[in-house]
Amino acid sequence: MNHKRVLRLAVTVAATGALAAGMTMTLTSTASAGTTLKASAAEKGRYFGAAVAGQKLSDNTYVTILNREFNSVVAENDMKWDATEPQQGRFVYTGGDRLVSHAQANGQSVRGHALLWYQQQPGWAQNMSGSALRSAMINHVTQVATHFRGKIHSWDVVNEAFADGNSGARRDSNLQRTGNDWIEAAFYAARAADPGAKLCYNDYNTDGINAKSTGIYNMVRDFRSRGVPIDCVGFQSHLGTSLASDYQANLQRFADLGVDVQITELDVMSGGNQANIFAGVTRACMNVSRCTGITTWGVRDCDSWRGSDNALLFECSGNKKAAYTSVLNALNAGPGITPSPTTPGPTTPGPTTPPPTTPPPTTPPPGPDGCTASVSLNSWTGGFVASVKVTAGSAGTNGWNVSVTLPGGASVTNTWSATASGSTGTVRFTNVNYNGRLGAGQVTEFGFQGTGSAAGVTPTCTAS
Ligand code: G3I
Repeated sequence: MNHKRVLRLAVTVAATGALAAGMTMTLTSTASAGTTLKASAAEKGRYFGAAVAGQKLSDNTYVTILNREFNSVVAENDMKWDATEPQQGRFVYTGGDRLVSHAQANGQSVRGHALLWYQQQPGWAQNMSGSALRSAMINHVTQVATHFRGKIHSWDVVNEAFADGNSGARRDSNLQRTGNDWIEAAFYAARAADPGAKLCYNDYNTDGINAKSTGIYNMVRDFRSRGVPIDCVGFQSHLGTSLASDYQANLQRFADLGVDVQITELDVMSGGNQANIFAGVTRACMNVSRCTGITTWGVRDCDSWRGSDNALLFECSGNKKAAYTSVLNALNAGPGITPSPTTPGPTTPGPTTPPPTTPPPTTPPPGPDGCTASVSLNSWTGGFVASVKVTAGSAGTNGWNVSVTLPGGASVTNTWSATASGSTGTVRFTNVNYNGRLGAGQVTEFGFQGTGSAAGVTPTCTAS
């Protein structure tokens, strides 16, 4: 038995003992010497992944490297909206299922990418807006996450929703124009569909503390404080010829919000600095205990969307590049994950949410000074998503309730941007703290999802 192997065994035994005893554990920086990316990452409690283009799964050189080096995969394109729902309500899972089968046969976990994105929408969705689009997008999230339920480690629920530049604001898109709460609505729907998957927000140009990453940081902080079910943030990390000096600090500030962070689409411009930048990103991830994995956006240079940038870790021939060695060394030198108490995940509101303690108003004051509600339904056999628009009357509102009487057999399973009381028969939805106060004529939207049919329901709105 050689020296390195002895060290590795010793670490494994020590780590197992520490974990069994429920103690925190830190591995020393010289204590491992894995010889593949996946082994070295796994020794430190992380995954090392690659984006996979479906058609490459018949390329022997490609598959050999994929299975030898990577223990996580993500579909480069096959799980996007245009691929999975080419016509509204017609779902195609061929490419995604093929990747999941490959992963399961080869001991790889699967990242899901991406449920909602302003790009790569099917034509029918690009032409939609308002509540029709809101219903369609929630249905898409629900259907796709349900199909892959139990098979996805982490989902990119929403991809690239923030603008580049100095605004720190949301990017304009058809999705954004359905209402600012579209992102949280998507997270609630994804949680309801696959409660076991980690739910991530994913974006690029977030490689340091800048206006865009700060905008996202503020959203994640707000989501955590309000219990919106977000578990992780993906940093795509499509990089040029330098690495921001605060790359690690940026990961850490997100981790400090109680979410995991992941490097999700790493690739780096070739040239003198490539190996150093790859190593710097790897070190940063290793130094952040909530950084749970790294994914490169492809396997070999010739598989990359960046073409002549030669941005990955392997040559087309399959040879390892200098950048490969620098990543492997950084994985081996890094500390392992220090187990810490898991931050309790936010709970999904809906039928499990205790009913509000406020008794219903004894004198409901509907009318011109109250509020009105209208519902838009997206139904399929056995289920539906309802988007409800609440409009304040001439006096505005301090809060509102919307009652809906469901037909027999129908049941609410999930609610967003409101709190539901009851799940069958007459269900009462109450504003949450940020959308109760409406000016005269102002509109807000909430939604709920259910089983059975909600055909013909008419909501009634009561203002307070
Ligand atoms: O498969 C069709 C082919 O049939 C057709 O002949 C050809 C003609 O254009 O297009 C092929 O589809 C292309 C697809 O890649 C597969 O190669 C699409 O046009 C092309 O738009 C698509 O590009 C992908 C891009 O996202 C847009 O979805 C890239 O492969 C993919 O690497 C890239 O990945 C994104 C992440 O999802 C999000 N973050 C940024 C990252 C890089 O842009």
